Amino acid sequence: MEYVSFGTTGAQLSRLCLGTMMFGGRTDKAEADRILGHAIEQGVNFIDTAAMYCDGLPETILGEISQGRRDKIFVATKVHKGVDAASITSSIDESLARLRMDHVDLYLIHWPRQGMQPEAMMRALNEVVQAGKTRFVGCCNYPAWLFAHSNAIAERNGWAKLVSNQLPYNLIERGIEVEILPQALAETIAITIYRPLLIGILAGKYQPGAALTTDSRGESDARIPAWLERYGAALAGFNDFAASHGVHPAHVALAWLLHSPGVTSVIGGVSRLDQLQPQIDACSFKLSDDEYAQLSALFDSAVKEEAGGAFPGLRRELQLLG
Ligand SMILES: NC(=O)c1ccc[n+]([C@@H]2O[C@H](COP(=O)([O-])OP(=O)(O)OC[C@H]3O[C@@H](n4cnc5c(N)ncnc54)[C@H](OP(=O)(O)O)[C@@H]3O)[C@@H](O)[C@H]2O)c1
Repeated sequence: MEYVSFGTTGAQLSRLCLGTMMFGGRTDKAEADRILGHAIEQGVNFIDTAAMYCDGLPETILGEISQGRRDKIFVATKVHKGVDAASITSSIDESLARLRMDHVDLYLIHWPRQGMQPEAMMRALNEVVQAGKTRFVGCCNYPAWLFAHSNAIAERNGWAKLVSNQLPYNLIERGIEVEILPQALAETIAITIYRPLLIGILAGKYQPGAALTTDSRGESDARIPAWLERYGAALAGFNDFAASHGVHPAHVALAWLLHSPGVTSVIGGVSRLDQLQPQIDACSFKLSDDEYAQLSALFDSAVKEEAGGAFPGLRRELQLLG
């Protein structure tokens, strides 16, 4: 396993982070236990969870199966409910109870919201750090301007600053290349990537034109058939690239991310143990700069300023901050 300095924290974390979003849903507790055990055995020391997944079940399961192994993992979880100060401070207590931990390592705002108040949020996050309930704070899905704005507030007040941003990024969803990755490089912000396999499309799970695989997230996610239709031809090229190198498509998708400047770590989503090893192996599959460029050009994915149009911005809503 390869390790990397996590932003400015001083922590050395595995470039593959284990995502737990499926725990308690597609993944039962026994399988989750096997997945966590194998991940740790293979050197993964970074675990991502959240209070809002599956009504808190992934946190509850992680709390049970991490007993006796807490010292081996750096745990990130996310604020649930609102983003007002009271929600931030009560959400961490609920998460810690489910996780059976006295602190997490990284506490993240899950989504920016319309009408949010960055100063109150940064004050509340600082209180969580001061209370020893988390070592570091960060965010997910923040546009670059909001990250900089929030940290300027923290800096002025001597509060804990956001150390990381967690975002979707893969060969097709490329919005963070415009502002977020350059900002991360300039300011040593740790960037963790979610949806690296485009929910399985970049793991060879679905083939354009073929019926959706049963027992898959594709059965209930309308984005999957839409992506398959739009990117089918390029996907065939992507799968051919993997086949010609004799590797699993997930190797290629993750290796491309890990080769990308500004990407700190990639959160692997698995619902079964057998999906984990290709992701672990991907960390030692290296692309040349030419191969990286070839893959980058494969998909006609217009690089937009905001990934998926999901970030709040003036075009969507004039009254952004409270
Ligand atoms: N901060 C946020 O807003 C946010 C949002 C979403 C996720 N996350 C985090 O990011 C993590 C990863 O997200 P994600 O699950 O959407 O990532 P993903 O890598 O895009 O998708 C994972 C899915 O791909 C399929 N897959 C994985 N490995 C495979 C393999 N070797 N062969 C075939 N199929 C394979 C599985 O689908 P099936 O289950 O259908 O088999 C798996 O559930 C989550 O666990 C969570 O921790 C954060």
